[in-house]
Amino acid sequence: MRTQVGIVGAGPAGLVLSHLLHLQGVDSVVLEARTREYVQERVRAGVLEQNTVDLLTEAGVGERMCREGLVHHGIELRFRGRGHRIDFHQLTEGRAITIYAQAEVVRDLIDARLAAGGTITFEAADVSIHDLDGPQPLIRFRKNSESAELYCDFIAGCDGFHGICRPSIPPGVLSVYERTYPFAWLGILAEAAPSSQELVYSYHDRGFALLSMRSQQLSRLYLQCAPDEDVENWPDDRIWRELRTRLACDGWKLIEGRIVQKSIAGMRSFVVEPMQYGRLFLAGDAAHIVPPTGAKGLNLAVADVRVLADALSEFYCSGNRELLNHYSESCLRRVWKVQRFSWWMTSMLHRFDSDNAFDRRRQLGELDYVTSSRAAAQTLAENYVGLPMEKMWKNNC
Ligand code: APR
Ligand code: PHB
Repeated sequence: MRTQVGIVGAGPAGLVLSHLLHLQGVDSVVLEARTREYVQERVRAGVLEQNTVDLLTEAGVGERMCREGLVHHGIELRFRGRGHRIDFHQLTEGRAITIYAQAEVVRDLIDARLAAGGTITFEAADVSIHDLDGPQPLIRFRKNSESAELYCDFIAGCDGFHGICRPSIPPGVLSVYERTYPFAWLGILAEAAPSSQELVYSYHDRGFALLSMRSQQLSRLYLQCAPDEDVENWPDDRIWRELRTRLACDGWKLIEGRIVQKSIAGMRSFVVEPMQYGRLFLAGDAAHIVPPTGAKGLNLAVADVRVLADALSEFYCSGNRELLNHYSESCLRRVWKVQRFSWWMTSMLHRFDSDNAFDRRRQLGELDYVTSSRAAAQTLAENYVGLPMEKMWKNNC
């Protein structure tokens, strides 16, 4: 088998890349370890920044998102039992976020790729990548116990944090920048109408809590918990009690319902540099992870592949490798700004056991500042709705 771009991973990064390449006349094959059902049902993030919404819409895959997504023009920061709204609309000249689950984005992209005759091989086992620094890299895998080889011009490593692409780069090439956090998030999906119109980020002495949603019938809620916490220690009534306490606010009531999903996820900030080696380009979680507090993981993955799709199509169009050569550099400028924002939101809102009373008052001082200064609120707002995408230099062929 042969293709122009071999893509490992059918998460948002791999699928958006494959779709954008298709729109620009570049051929790709996507290899995914899991089943189609698994990737379409995996419970993940759900906040799309304006850039992501615009890109999906312009790329012709935004129809259901526009119909079913919930457009929010602000978020609430809650502390000392009071809510404070950050008004995105006013602070960012009308920009907004859209609540639409990652699984739905993935579903729409898979439908679009398959409808256009694209190839996504699900349940591709033992995927390995070879000859990255030669003229024709190769992907080996097994499908239905049969070995297969896919020759490519380029490989896109879109296989997430635990994938095989990043570890296939020879030792000594990559620098790793990392920070782990001494807590995790317990997340639930509950059959309950959202208790608030907009997302609520709550700072509390007992730890952070977040109220989010997926639809008018489905709430998504999170609690800061210990990093090694066992989900078995969290029966439903304990979860609701803790959410009621941490989200408590005058005149407000938490709407409860049947919990249909429960899971714990660790928190980490992680970047590798560079994001490319020979003819391999890493994108999304394969290259970087952010803690979820700013809802940036999915959006950053989409930002990477937008740069990569433009660079690849420029190459196929004019033979010019300039954009490809600068792929990593172009992405990392945004990556580090988003890392900063996600780290800052995380640090401001969570309880760190190593903190003393001074630190907790400092956090409250920061929250007070962010919610009372237009300049500070605007900083949060412009990052949350998504920093502008840099214009790429491109031939028009
Ligand atoms: N072979 C083939 N596919 C693989 C392999 C492998 N060896 N390892 C992992 N994969 C697949 C995973 O099954 C997954 O479907 O790669 C895909 C990676 O998708 P994501 O983890 O979703 O990563 P990405 O596309 O970069 O999306 C960014 O944003 O909300 C955040 O972390 C969240 O997934 C999210 C991310
Ligand atoms: C979510 O809805 O899953 C969500 C929302 C906001 C975040 C993180 C996750 O910061």
